[in-house]
Amino acid sequence: MKYSKEINRRKTFAIISHPDAGKTTLTEKFLLFGGAIQTAGAVKSNKIKKHATSDFMEIERQRGISVATSVMTFEYENTLINLLDTPGHKDFAEDTYRTLTAVDSVVLVIDSVNGVEEQTRRLMEVCRMRDTPVIVFINKMDRDGKNRFDLLEEIENELKLQLHPMTWPINSGKDFKGVYNLHDKSLLLFTANTKASDENTLLIKDLSTKELDEKVGEKDANQLREDVELLDGVYGELPVDEYLKAKVAPVFFGSAINNFGVKELLDTFIRIAPSPLPRETSVREVEPTEDKFSGFIFKIHANLDPKHRDRIAFLRVCSGKFARNTYYHHVRLEKDVRFSNPYSFLARDKDVIEEAFPGDVVGLFDTGNFKIGDTLTEGEDFYYTGVPSFSPELFKELVNKDPMKTKQLEKGVRQLTDEGVAQLFTQHGGNRKIIGCVGELQFEVIQYRLLQEYGASCQFNTLPFFKACWITSDDQKKLEDFARFKPQNIVTDKDGNFVYLAQSEWFLNTERTNNPGIEFHFTSEIHK
Ligand code: G4P
Repeated sequence: MKYSKEINRRKTFAIISHPDAGKTTLTEKFLLFGGAIQTAGAVKSNKIKKHATSDFMEIERQRGISVATSVMTFEYENTLINLLDTPGHKDFAEDTYRTLTAVDSVVLVIDSVNGVEEQTRRLMEVCRMRDTPVIVFINKMDRDGKNRFDLLEEIENELKLQLHPMTWPINSGKDFKGVYNLHDKSLLLFTANTKASDENTLLIKDLSTKELDEKVGEKDANQLREDVELLDGVYGELPVDEYLKAKVAPVFFGSAINNFGVKELLDTFIRIAPSPLPRETSVREVEPTEDKFSGFIFKIHANLDPKHRDRIAFLRVCSGKFARNTYYHHVRLEKDVRFSNPYSFLARDKDVIEEAFPGDVVGLFDTGNFKIGDTLTEGEDFYYTGVPSFSPELFKELVNKDPMKTKQLEKGVRQLTDEGVAQLFTQHGGNRKIIGCVGELQFEVIQYRLLQEYGASCQFNTLPFFKACWITSDDQKKLEDFARFKPQNIVTDKDGNFVYLAQSEWFLNTERTNNPGIEFHFTSEIHK
């Protein structure tokens, strides 16, 4: 229990949202509160600009800025907060999903006008897989949004999440007057384009006070009284235990751009969000307080300079203390490695660090030793589980256009897929290379980077598959027979696991029915 003081003051989380709901804006407000930045506009949005001349050139530009904002570390009220950034573009969703394996909780931003959107649903599915505690921030209350009760119902139903309002809004859009804090019974008054300050906060112990009518008008005061009575009756105090078990999600209303309702959110976050939690490995659960260091790689970022193939591997520390220039065991490669220049991501500077504790993320220079999901330990043989690959949605055959550059192509594809840019499948019993991605953009990126960084040119031929399923069976023979009978559909992933590529839902269901001894999975642990 050597480092419990360090561990208890850390909180590692991500802000997630459907693009445009306000993730970047909220991130910036958090950083302002933490003193990590001084001015609004300092955080570069990592989303692809709407009118970019070429999307993948824009991605290259983004790659330049996104290392710096990958992890934002700041202090607030003696709490050390590691905020992990997630890509804004849906084509890079898998990168986001993997980042979620490295956090202990999330803040989910929902646009009050649009409600639950496509990406919100998918992100929550990933959070549910790992029972990640969620705090919801309903943003853009300064716009005419949905009815607040309807919105709560929509979120509960669509995201299968039990909500617990912590603040309650008085109207929305041009009639938005503020939020009432159900926890400490104070009213925060909203004035458009003015930063909320202490003067805008009124303590309203008893809602029947006339002061409320004076401030918000009789009609809205009465509506608030009615709403709060209803809410108090239904919800009561926040069951923090249930939040930590990811059963209940506290909800805040506000407007990130106006920095309104954000402090309430942050104050609650540091009060209730979990510190680094125990994590499952292939052998046992590892406590963060264990003396010995362990951690895993959840993201790999290629260097922008094509002459240097250096990459940065992002290590989440899970237990013990990570120290510079110390040998650690690389479990997959069965060799010991050490790092002379590990760096932390404090604010926007990259600083070489001497040590790091559970919850921290360390950037390691890598010359090709790491794959996503790799584990480092102080000697013990286990790997962290729960860093899966997810089924891609688009599949294309990779065709080499320049036979003189076959080696370069192979190396490039291997390195790009190690980075997690896309997934590589090889036809079972053959040599066809099939690339699986979440979005079209990634194919453009691969083609561009193979040429720029490896001098290899390729072309893609679209394949008619819609999902990849990792297949397993208790009976190895059954699995092999199935693979033999379906040569067109069976591929292996880069770790040699069997994967069935389905043309449609119908085909998938038929195979499921016809092969009861085989299990079809939409995700895989990267290590088996
Ligand atoms: P994202 O990272 O989730 O994609 O969203 P981001 O913060 O970039 O916000 C998306 C848009 O919504 C931005 O406008 C931003 O200014 C706006 N926004 C964020 N919070 C609020 C809010 O509380 N109220 C209102 N009305 N708007 C909000 P944009 O025009 O796309 O970009 P910009 O030109 O303002 O940067």
